[in-house]
Amino acid sequence: MNRTHNCGTLTRAQDGQTVTLMGWVHGRRDHGGVLFVDVRDRFGVTQLVFDVDKDAGLHERANGLRGEFVIAATGSVRVRPEESFNPQLTTGEIEIEVSALEVLNRANTPPFSIEEDVHAAESLRLKHRYLDLRRPSMQRLLKLRHDVTYQTRRFLHEREFLEIETPILTKSTPEGARDYLVPSRVNPGDFFALPQSPQLFKQILMVGGADRYVQIARCFRDEDLRLDRQPEFTQIDLEMSFVERDDVMNLTEELLRVVFKEAAGVALPSPFPRLTYHEATSRYGTDKPDCRFGLELRDLNDVAKRVEFKVFRETAEKGGQVSGLVVKGGAAMARNQIDRLIDVARDFGAKGLAWVKIVEGWRLDSVIAKFLKSELFQQALPDAGPGDLLLCVADTPAMTRDVLGRLRLHLGSELGLIEQDRWTPVWVTDFPLLEYDPAERRYVALHHPFTAPRGEDVPDLDSDPLRVSAQAYDVVLNGFEIGGGSIRIHQSDIQHKVFDLLGISKEAAQDKFGFLLEALDYGAPPHGGIALGLDRLVMLLGKTESIRDVIPFPKTQKAQCVMTDAPSSVSHAQLKELHVKLDEQITRRDQTGDR
Ligand code: AMO
Ligand code: AMP
Repeated sequence: MNRTHNCGTLTRAQDGQTVTLMGWVHGRRDHGGVLFVDVRDRFGVTQLVFDVDKDAGLHERANGLRGEFVIAATGSVRVRPEESFNPQLTTGEIEIEVSALEVLNRANTPPFSIEEDVHAAESLRLKHRYLDLRRPSMQRLLKLRHDVTYQTRRFLHEREFLEIETPILTKSTPEGARDYLVPSRVNPGDFFALPQSPQLFKQILMVGGADRYVQIARCFRDEDLRLDRQPEFTQIDLEMSFVERDDVMNLTEELLRVVFKEAAGVALPSPFPRLTYHEATSRYGTDKPDCRFGLELRDLNDVAKRVEFKVFRETAEKGGQVSGLVVKGGAAMARNQIDRLIDVARDFGAKGLAWVKIVEGWRLDSVIAKFLKSELFQQALPDAGPGDLLLCVADTPAMTRDVLGRLRLHLGSELGLIEQDRWTPVWVTDFPLLEYDPAERRYVALHHPFTAPRGEDVPDLDSDPLRVSAQAYDVVLNGFEIGGGSIRIHQSDIQHKVFDLLGISKEAAQDKFGFLLEALDYGAPPHGGIALGLDRLVMLLGKTESIRDVIPFPKTQKAQCVMTDAPSSVSHAQLKELHVKLDEQITRRDQTGDR
């Protein structure tokens, strides 16, 4: 038998035609002498009919079909009786009156049912990923991911980008996560690192004259996993020569608009709004704001300095930050609801959460009301009024913003303030180049060490490094950082200076990045780029909650692949060949099989 159609195309247009379909048995319904079997493939589901009166032998064989058997069926297309039309399906008005059936393969009973929504534990889904992938919702995500990469490639190809591959076995790169290492057999004691990103290679490609580079690039970072993070993930990685910040940002915006439109029919705004890092963190408490709803942070330092409540006054006077959220209608919250919010804030690291109900006549109702002054709050919060609830945190500026930023998200979802169908991309710009890390007692790069400082700030590198802004930009969508990039340093003297500020010695810089420094001295063009997180993009477009749903073979929270059982132990002989010796403890554990 040769397949003539897939399971998702036949309609009344093919009425009367003889066709052959192949696919998996999706379900069956036994109506006495008539047996209906749904056959499924990637494209859809078609109903097969076996009538005992027409062919008793065939009917009996069809009776033996079980879920997920692989079959081929030949028969003629016929229009169903009107009352059994299924408007949900393309094939919902027809069925196939089967004349020949072949079982191509049998199947064990699957440990979970192959349906749109799955109720099985994720570990079971991942162990039998081939079954999980058969579910229509997973098939749609595979297709969406393909469409996103296809549209990306098309868009960039039309704009003279070259798709260029860079090495997977390489040297440690500077994104700041832990590296995955690969021992070298032929160079005993030496290791390759898997790339955390193609950052250095794409810069070298600009020195090499490639002008416009793109790679759908696999990146590897040995870091703690979250719902939006995988140890192995994919970037849409770009780099361009002779450009300024706005050139990269405009191209990226257009790319995202085209891809969202073509791959998913989603219209993104033009242009994307822009926030400086300072605006983002002071208004939303984070550099990846979810702008689908308001509930912005309110600076209450001036008020705090003029009230008796000691925690507020002292915090504001001593360089701390007092800020608040105005929850519209929140004064109606019961005490235990507010207590829960206090616990949430404490979990986020707050020392406390002061709550103030604004009631009739702008009177304040709170345990600390007698230490506050209603008029001051009324002036500072002209848009607040009776019926609202004010939630305040007093702490270091960083802690206050972080707690309220997270509390804002918590309330946003708790109170249903987030419009699920909104798409709010936003650029965050003007990041500081450096941050001071008190634990390491040195400056660290906010992005990576190759990010160019703003031209006019270069003199400050010597006098006041923390004041220097970076020519960096992140693109954020609905609260997720979906991409980040920058104009790069293309002059070796500035690169040396930045390494120096980061506490990277001349020798260390030479050892790690010598090839880049040398390349910069052979006529490096001005250049810049960006990397978009492909997995996150598809996760958001596909409206799924876990990045694992858009990666066919993802790792679990413990960075394992439960289908293949990777990572796993290797033989002593393999290790010996690689000149690798394991810790005694691990060797002992492996011998006893005790994991
Ligand atoms: P960055 O480290 O910001 O920049 O990464 C760019 C984008 O990649 C995505 N991303 C991840 N997605 C899933 N799992 C992860 N573990 C993960 N880590 C990052 C995010 C992020 O915005 N070389 C620079 C880019 C440049 O400067 O051009 C870089 O890698 O969406
Ligand atoms: P206390 O004076 O510790 O009894 O606190 C009085 C109120 O202020 C309580 O509701 C605390 O939760 C709140 N509070 C205490 N510390 C802070 C803080 N750092 N920020 C905001 N509220 C606080």
